[in-house]
Amino acid sequence: MVSVREGAAVEPVGDVVAELGEGPYWVPEDDCLLWVDIPRGELHRTYFPSRETLTVDLGAVSAAFPALGGGILTAGGSRLVLHLPAERGEKWTSRTIGEVPAREGVRFNDAAVDPAGRVWVGSMHIDETDPLGELLRLDPGGELTTVVKGVTISNGISWSPDGGRMYYVDSPTRRVDVFDYDPATGEAFQRRVFCDVSAFPGVPDGLTVDADGYIWVAMHGGSALLRITSDGERDAVLELPVSMPTSCAFGGPGMSDLYVTTASRGLNEAGRAAEPLAGRLLRLHPGPAGLPSTTTYATLPA
Ligand code: BGC
Ligand code: CA
Repeated sequence: MVSVREGAAVEPVGDVVAELGEGPYWVPEDDCLLWVDIPRGELHRTYFPSRETLTVDLGAVSAAFPALGGGILTAGGSRLVLHLPAERGEKWTSRTIGEVPAREGVRFNDAAVDPAGRVWVGSMHIDETDPLGELLRLDPGGELTTVVKGVTISNGISWSPDGGRMYYVDSPTRRVDVFDYDPATGEAFQRRVFCDVSAFPGVPDGLTVDADGYIWVAMHGGSALLRITSDGERDAVLELPVSMPTSCAFGGPGMSDLYVTTASRGLNEAGRAAEPLAGRLLRLHPGPAGLPSTTTYATLPA
């Protein structure tokens, strides 16, 4: 097992400054990182080694994944949509894959792909105070099945290396929870507290799992990533030069780059001056490698 370099250098990648950068997802076949800016409705594709970012305005987007069979599946608003990229300058074509009734004050937030290719998506109360959100699973017939109700800000979702556990965050609880999980059926059961992170500043947001089964959580408002052991113990704290890291994902050669999305939303002029990297895509080499199943393509209903 590789231990963590808590003081690993933090480097900005590209020059996009997001309002609320979110949802980093590595696409190994394209050496590309997908990520989004939720309030601007933008999908970013940052390519390596050139670090060139292509941006498209999708109107509503909170997460994006490569789809098996081609295209990019996004969550946004109250819909899951498959986008088929067009030549530069041409409009993308799109098709709705799954949808829930639109509700005032509620929108989709983080989404995830399980190790079998199944898509999960959560929703949140936009004002962040009431438990109006849900966690849903996209089933083979195309229906979105509600699995958890009463969520305020549905956030990070990820799976253990053997697929037998699903980690989950509802941010205001200041906990990471865990479910037992059956990747063959997509059943998640026995939700319980995995790790209470309320001793740390900020709230837990996006998360990922590394090849050794450790959980990495972005602490939104806490200027740090936490690394948690599979027993739910704090392992390491990686301080960041931005107050609002939102999510993290491994990628790059050998899955050894850790990409972190960040927010600049709500910072005043002094705040922006104090945090010149707020809103940028950041990269670290903390030591451990990512789990290949965190790059799974989404399988779409027939
Ligand atoms: C949401 C934000 C929220 C943040 C912290 C993000 O996933 O998109 O709206 O402020 O989590 O809870
Ligand atoms: Ca999030």
